[in-house]
Amino acid sequence: MKSNSYNKYIGITAFGESHGKAIGVVIEDVKAGIAFPIEEIRIALNERKPGRGTFSSSRKESDTIQVLSGVFEGKTTGMPICLMVNNEDARSKDYEHLKDLFRPGHADFSYFSKFKIYDYRGGGRASGRETISRVAAAGLVTDVLAGINIKIYPIKIGKLETTDIDHTFLNELSWHDRKNFGELTKYLSDVKTEGNSVGGIIEVMISNIPAGLGDPVFEKLDANLAKAIVSIGAVKGIEFGEGFKFAELKGNETNDQMDNNGFITNKSGGILGGISTGNNLSLRFVVKPTPSINILQKTITKGNKEVSFRSLGRHDTCIIPRIIPVAKAMIKLVLADAISYQKLISSDKLNLIDYREAIDKIDEDILIALGRRQKISELIGKFKQENNLQIENRNREEKLLLGLKEKAKLWNIDESLITKIWQIIILESKKKQ
Ligand SMILES: Cc1cc2nc3c(=O)[nH]c(=O)nc-3n(C[C@H](O)[C@H](O)[C@H](O)COP(=O)(O)O)c2cc1C
Repeated sequence: MKSNSYNKYIGITAFGESHGKAIGVVIEDVKAGIAFPIEEIRIALNERKPGRGTFSSSRKESDTIQVLSGVFEGKTTGMPICLMVNNEDARSKDYEHLKDLFRPGHADFSYFSKFKIYDYRGGGRASGRETISRVAAAGLVTDVLAGINIKIYPIKIGKLETTDIDHTFLNELSWHDRKNFGELTKYLSDVKTEGNSVGGIIEVMISNIPAGLGDPVFEKLDANLAKAIVSIGAVKGIEFGEGFKFAELKGNETNDQMDNNGFITNKSGGILGGISTGNNLSLRFVVKPTPSINILQKTITKGNKEVSFRSLGRHDTCIIPRIIPVAKAMIKLVLADAISYQKLISSDKLNLIDYREAIDKIDEDILIALGRRQKISELIGKFKQENNLQIENRNREEKLLLGLKEKAKLWNIDESLITKIWQIIILESKKKQ
């Protein structure tokens, strides 16, 4: 499963572990001749990096971006772009005590159950450092999002909530309420002294977003945003518009009525039927407290022995400020996909470059599907061999071909074309079996 890749408007493969040599990303499908946004990527990575404030992990990483390929004289060449950040301050000895046990709340137990091997140092691939790749990659879609304004800030950290938001109030926690900022820092200092951690809720407001983004039914805008954001470690829930309040409101309180100036309210948060309405897009997501804490907790070892332990590594008291740039990056990637898909189906006049782009995208999708088919075919072959089953099954092949021909009619595709393609595919997959 290509679960470290995101293949949409741009194709991304992310790699690296917290205490490995480096974290990085390979980005494909970026047009040639675009000015490479190195400065913008540097700024975004600086916002994400540890050690930026009192409540962030004290790990000291410069997170200096290295451009290994795909950029020449400051411009993209159309070739794969490889971006990499070295891990400079990994103190693996801090994690020696975790070697044989599973930290509560972290991914140790589930990774070990799945892969039977786990890089325990700094959380391995389940570390927040993984998100460097996301932030770096999103720098490449900014031009597509011109004019769209994304505001993202916490509205709750631990037990404290913002009551009076002022976006001009800037600080290390991105907390936009002057009135209780002092109270918040005192609260977080106490949590830190305890060796404990807290989570919170982050709000996102996106303005100047065009209507029509998002594609029924599996590429709905809210569904894609939800997946992108919940894929970030420690994010545990998301809501759009009135969100969970919808449960207690009545229909007449939640429907966004219209007059000839447009929508009168925006309870839906700017998305209806998975498609943007042109209203501001609003969502909120919840982040759990940092799992690694310096407080005695019970767990078990790989040998199922009960033990008590405390985390000794360097950890964020609250991950919220570090998740903000990551969530922004994921939102940018999702919006760039939606905008590019919309371009393909919109009735606005397209030019030759747009048509070629559309065809290239489809060809790539075909390649990805063929690659996946080939892999599954190999697995079927292996399974049949191991279970002494007959490799060839002409009956099933004929049935499948008939089914495909039926479907092809719906799309006005010539039956003989389907037969030709199918015969090649079957022949090739038999070679793999
Ligand atoms: C930017 C970022 C930084 C993080 N820093 C830490 C950390 O210092 N210590 C820790 O235990 N977890 C940290 N996490 C959270 C873990 O990665 C996450 O909880 C873990 O992978 C388990 O996944 P889950 O919480 O989504 O189930 C961080 C996550 C992100 C996105």
